Amino acid sequence: MRDERRVRACAPAKVNLYLGVGPRRPDGYHDLATVFHALDLADDVVAEPADPGTVAVSVHGEHTAGVPTDESNLAARAARVLARYAGVAAGVHLTVHKRIPVAGGLAGGSADAAAALVACDALWETGCGRAELTTLAARVGSDVPFCLHGGTALGSGRGERLVPVMATGRLHWVLAVADGGLSTPRVYGELDAARGRRPVPAPEVPTGLLTALRTGDAAAVAGHLANDLQAPALRLRPALARTLAAGRDLGALRGIVSGSGPTVVFLVSDVAAAERLAADLLATGECLAALATSGPAAGARVVA
Ligand code: C5P
Repeated sequence: MRDERRVRACAPAKVNLYLGVGPRRPDGYHDLATVFHALDLADDVVAEPADPGTVAVSVHGEHTAGVPTDESNLAARAARVLARYAGVAAGVHLTVHKRIPVAGGLAGGSADAAAALVACDALWETGCGRAELTTLAARVGSDVPFCLHGGTALGSGRGERLVPVMATGRLHWVLAVADGGLSTPRVYGELDAARGRRPVPAPEVPTGLLTALRTGDAAAVAGHLANDLQAPALRLRPALARTLAAGRDLGALRGIVSGSGPTVVFLVSDVAAAERLAADLLATGECLAALATSGPAAGARVVA
């Protein structure tokens, strides 16, 4: 008899409210001091049984160009990592429903990996705890543990070590989606090249940001948004300066490049302001799409 079970899970996109980047480590990664913030914008992954030992993936959505469907797909990698760890012989077919822009600095691939971990864990009834899944998530990518965790969190190490941040209220955002992605290693490489041989101090999250989050003061949060990858992303994609200027002129509290870019995210005061700015930004022609969303959102979870 055919196995009809299917599990749907979702996982959030992220923005980095602060992204301090330390020197390049011998393993090629960089130590970070970051504040991750999960958004309502999320991808879904549906897991269904497939022939033993196989992991197949198909991807659906409006903008899916550049998403691999071979074994390099992060959702497929997450399923393989879990199967190996839990000694699962069964196969899986993963259907990824993408809403998060691809290669945009919003952890879209990492969200798919986190959702796949949760979906496969439920499908295979592995009994893995949250801590075990977090360890497996870090093997798949630096941002995957946060997509599992959700909320607002301090990240250290290469981003995989997380501590929840106390945050009050909601933050409202407009995401200005650029035409085409940016390669994360390339943006880090550009930062390293600009730094040259100068010593780089260990990064540290400003306490003012944590205070602003605790008190739920969006204007104060806006004042502390910062990203060490913004300057290199702007050098690689100079047109982003116009996007930042457009959002500022249209009344955003603040704009910043998200992670390694090229998505520019604007913090605004409320939902109505987000919807207005999204429409106005799109009309300027300075972005491919403009999405209004809010945070913090929960981490990866089974939804059906
Ligand atoms: O961990 P992940 O595979 O997502 O990282 C992709 C690339 O981004 C790494 O190969 C590395 O070049 C860069 N990276 C980094 N330091 C980090 C995270 C990512 O240099 N903390």
